[in-house]
Amino acid sequence: MKSKASIKSHPLHPILVTFPIAFYIGTLLFDALAVFFGDGGFSITGKYMHISGIVGAVLAAIPGVIDYLSVVPPESSAKKRGATHGLINASVLFIFAIALYLKYWVDINPYIILLIELIGVTLTFVAGWMGGTLVYRNQIGVDIRYAGAGKWKELHITENTGPFEVCNTNELDVDQMKLIHTKNQRIVIARTDNGYVAFEDRCSHKGGSLAGGAMICGTVQCPWHGSQFDVKTGEVKAGPAKDSIKTYEVKEAGGKVFLII
Ligand code: FES
Repeated sequence: MKSKASIKSHPLHPILVTFPIAFYIGTLLFDALAVFFGDGGFSITGKYMHISGIVGAVLAAIPGVIDYLSVVPPESSAKKRGATHGLINASVLFIFAIALYLKYWVDINPYIILLIELIGVTLTFVAGWMGGTLVYRNQIGVDIRYAGAGKWKELHITENTGPFEVCNTNELDVDQMKLIHTKNQRIVIARTDNGYVAFEDRCSHKGGSLAGGAMICGTVQCPWHGSQFDVKTGEVKAGPAKDSIKTYEVKEAGGKVFLII
């Protein structure tokens, strides 16, 4: 599902995380060189890398939090994975901040500093692995373009009870979807050969966003594990999902489409 913190469909978080990852590893490497081969320029390089890693991590966290709150589907396996990913990265930031303090303001055995940094780098790899799963499996931040998908469309509504005017009757092409955010629900409006339909934006298997999937001939396919649902009735057409998805009433009047909830 398309990232909110992006430039021309290029998500910022995966770009920015490369900096703290490289600087954290560089900090450990240059601090180790300083310890094993004498100071030279290693120590000062390690210091700059250390500070850059912390600053880079804070900057990378901003688009990450934005995407976690606005893009990762609620009540899904990716939401739990994203929360764990964020907590581990926050812990790494804390670990490197502590290491920086100990290194320059406390007289402490440098091997203890190296051990702390090694723990931080190891946790960075764990968090990075989870981040990879979020992108390559859960497709968080991926701007999916199947045939007929058209331009990504979203609408935010602050209330929670309708009817809501959600689009013009000619706004969507056949097989195109639009994600509607009400106060506490995510609902997909879609156009079929037989008119507009609405269904919940939550796959009943593990919570994948159906708006980020593909729709064709009245069937929507979840992007995570391929479950398929009838968009009119919500019934499962293909697993692994076993339960139907919720559908909503839609009315067309005066050239407008209204969602009834
Ligand atoms: S979350 Fe598994 S098929 Fe949708």
